[in-house]
Amino acid sequence: MKKTFLTVAVVLGIASVSKAQTKIPPDVEKLLQKNTCLACHKVDTRLVGPAYKEVMKKKKYKPEQIVELIYKPVPANWEGYPPMAPMAQVPKDEALKIAKWITTLK
Ligand code: HEC
Repeated sequence: MKKTFLTVAVVLGIASVSKAQTKIPPDVEKLLQKNTCLACHKVDTRLVGPAYKEVMKKKKYKPEQIVELIYKPVPANWEGYPPMAPMAQVPKDEALKIAKWITTLK
């Protein structure tokens, strides 16, 4: 009985570690902040928009597709969310860097 409890505790412990918040590389975080992405997106959890991990789980985009979606969002892809505003002001190289990082998320 005690052993079962311990096993459960250990398994839960591992599960909570693997669910820990994903660290954003500092250079990418700077771009996400500067371009206000973080106001609406988190890596692991839903905010105004879907979590970046959720985006990759559902869509498996290539970086170029994500760049395109930053400039021209397709709200129909995300039922139940408000539409994301097109963000033409994000410099292309910054959008690509963010997009490449998003595609590495699992
Ligand atoms: C004002 C809130 C807001 C901001 C700022 C914002 N987003 Fe979004 N984003 C959303 C919402 C809401 C959705 C889901 C609805 C949609 O796609 O229109 C979304 C969807 C997305 C998607 C999924 C697109 C798809 O069609 O699958 C990506 C990728 C994304 N955002 C990246 C970014 C990046 C990168 C930035 C910063 C340059 C950013 N977002 C800024 C709210 C925002």
